[in-house]
Amino acid sequence: MLQPSKLIEDFRLLFEGKPEWIVRAPGRVNLIGEHTDYNEGFVMPMAIDRAVWIALRPRTDTRVVVESLDFGGRVDFDIQSLVGISPRSGHPLQPKKDSSQAWTAYFAGVAWSLLEAGWPLRGWEGVVRGDVPIGAGLSSSAAVEVAAACAFAASSGCPVKVVPVALACQRAENQWVGVSCGIMDQLVCLAGKKNHAVLIDCRSLQWRPVPLPNEVVLVVMDTATRRDLANSEYNARRAQCEEAARLLGVRALRDISWETWPQCEPMLGEPWRRRARHVVSENQRTLQAVEAMEQGDLSRLGQLLVESHRSLREDFEVSSPALDAMVEIALRQPGCLGARMTGAGFGGCAIALVKREAVPPFLNAVASEYQSATNLEPKLYVCEPSDGAQILSPDALG
Ligand code: GLA
Repeated sequence: MLQPSKLIEDFRLLFEGKPEWIVRAPGRVNLIGEHTDYNEGFVMPMAIDRAVWIALRPRTDTRVVVESLDFGGRVDFDIQSLVGISPRSGHPLQPKKDSSQAWTAYFAGVAWSLLEAGWPLRGWEGVVRGDVPIGAGLSSSAAVEVAAACAFAASSGCPVKVVPVALACQRAENQWVGVSCGIMDQLVCLAGKKNHAVLIDCRSLQWRPVPLPNEVVLVVMDTATRRDLANSEYNARRAQCEEAARLLGVRALRDISWETWPQCEPMLGEPWRRRARHVVSENQRTLQAVEAMEQGDLSRLGQLLVESHRSLREDFEVSSPALDAMVEIALRQPGCLGARMTGAGFGGCAIALVKREAVPPFLNAVASEYQSATNLEPKLYVCEPSDGAQILSPDALG
């Protein structure tokens, strides 16, 4: 795990003197509730113990200077250059495709979005580092956005309120970076709680922590395949869900319950019928998963994960051969209660709910069986649910 003391040292070498603040913003994994956030439904992600960290010091002017130790580059811009501009105005810090410096756009995008929200931003300088795997579906981009927002909050003396900051980060991703994600990733990155998943109602934006029973752990299983199709197919799924809602005469698919689904189903042709069936059933499963966790019914929880995967594979069609292989292999192991793909899909990670005492043999068996089945080398992480983003004083870190 990343050492904040190392980050303080890096700051010293680059900028001389001490950082005034350290911010930490975690990645996330989604336990259940997939492709439901942009349908105003329910999701239950958790923040994980891998994060993006920034050590920073406010400046007296409006310049922002950030050095990335992972990508070996620097972003340097004046906040004034972002005031009142359109997010598609051809600013030099608009996202650059296929560049190792793509990360720089997130800092400008978050600054732009916070200015739009009326924050009186001041400049700062800092170093950023992280250990959230990139492109694996663990929301490294939301973690960078929220870390940047916390850095602006610390340097400008603004409070970090979960919903407004999550919405500002989502707007940066949607309008500046140009990826039309829902609110789940940014919100859980801020609202996460140690040892808990977070149930989020993506319509009201209310959330509540739900304890993850201590007898189980969540293993994140990176298939070592990346999500090439993710953007275009994600947008296509979103459009199909919106069309299905329109055909059913509701604001969003959230408004259809599993009980009323049999009356709605005949009104939809393919693929809208299956897309909507996934969303309606997944909302129901997410609420059932909360009940199962609260009652300590872990085999029921595992079963719901398995059903979620089936629905994502067959009805929503966002799984992939690598994700299916990983899930199947995980489910064959002793002590595995359930498994499914997580995140947008088409590659990236799956998760497994595993009894704590069964974890070491589980990790060995899944790694070797997956490798012989696919010729790919997977990465497995045991994830402990962690607290959401924090602004810390370097002295508190020792
Ligand atoms: C991506 C998006 C989220 C959510 C998931 C699918 O991670 O960023 O908003 O839509 O896909 O559940």
